[in-house]
Amino acid sequence: MASLFSKLKPKTNEPVQVPNGKVIAFLNQKGGVGKTTMAYNTAFALAEQGHKVLCLDLDPQSNLSLLFGAEKTGEHHLHHLLINSIRELAPLHVSSLVGDILVRKGNVDLLPTGQELSGFELTVAGISAPRQMILKRFFEKNDLLNEYDYIIVDCPPTLGLLVVNILCASQGVMIPFRPDEFSRKGLAHFYEVLEDVTEMGLTRTPDVLAHIPNMVDLRRKQEVTDLEKISSEMAEGTTVEPFFNRAQLVKSQAQRKSVYDFKGKDFKQLQGQFTNLANIITNWNEHYEL
Ligand SMILES: Nc1ncnc2c1ncn2[C@@H]1O[C@H](COP(=O)(O)OP(=O)(O)OP(=O)(O)O)[C@@H](O)[C@H]1O
Ligand SMILES: [Mg+2]
Repeated sequence: MASLFSKLKPKTNEPVQVPNGKVIAFLNQKGGVGKTTMAYNTAFALAEQGHKVLCLDLDPQSNLSLLFGAEKTGEHHLHHLLINSIRELAPLHVSSLVGDILVRKGNVDLLPTGQELSGFELTVAGISAPRQMILKRFFEKNDLLNEYDYIIVDCPPTLGLLVVNILCASQGVMIPFRPDEFSRKGLAHFYEVLEDVTEMGLTRTPDVLAHIPNMVDLRRKQEVTDLEKISSEMAEGTTVEPFFNRAQLVKSQAQRKSVYDFKGKDFKQLQGQFTNLANIITNWNEHYEL
């Protein structure tokens, strides 16, 4: 028995190194507000600044994977890696490793996903290990926070177990939203879920780094009123300058490119706005206290 326990003991008393990487989630349970668009372009903005960036597509719709040209049908993807990381689900394990699934576009890596991820909640329903901590453990087991400076997570438009996993594994959250009454209610609900996560006491609550008004039309009075109302209800200084409805974003996505792939003058403003989002993340990180 003694030999079994000695195997489990750490070999030395060296302090455990806390990894430097940060997980940043683009989150809003409302659909179509710009989570994928913002996550994708901010990842490239961070990479432009020289950071090592990994994107994670945690939405079964696989839109981020599509932007990387890496939709997965009939192949292993992130869902299988997550299941692989759960010891109790050994009968479901596959042979693929992170390196087999990783794809690269320009200077950004991605772990793509596919349809099977929609069955995640059901697949893990019966395990006895904490189901909210699967993603966090996956990062730890694969040492991803030592590998990358930033892991950018694209979230599904829900507040289910997958998103709770994302909240438990993230240090920062970015919230794109449309300025309307529905969004206001949605944001209030999100903050309730964040409180629930805090109360679970499993991990440190992530910081909300920015609220990002998207597809804003200042010609509509009601939108301006709703935007002002929402901004005043959020923590001071966290609502960034709005993104307007921009044909350039539609064009770049149709070509599966980021705004940084275009040299024209008409892309300068968007590039500046995404660089600003990257700066918000890096400035926050510089002052992040463990
Ligand atoms: N500022 C913008 N100007 C013009 N089109 C935009 C803008 N932001 C996003 N879009 C477009 O709006 C659509 C929805 O955006 P996106 O897919 O990023 O939202 P989402 O929140 O990720 O949606 P879902 O909840 O379904 O995952 C996309 O077709 C995208 O190209
Ligand atoms: Mg999306």
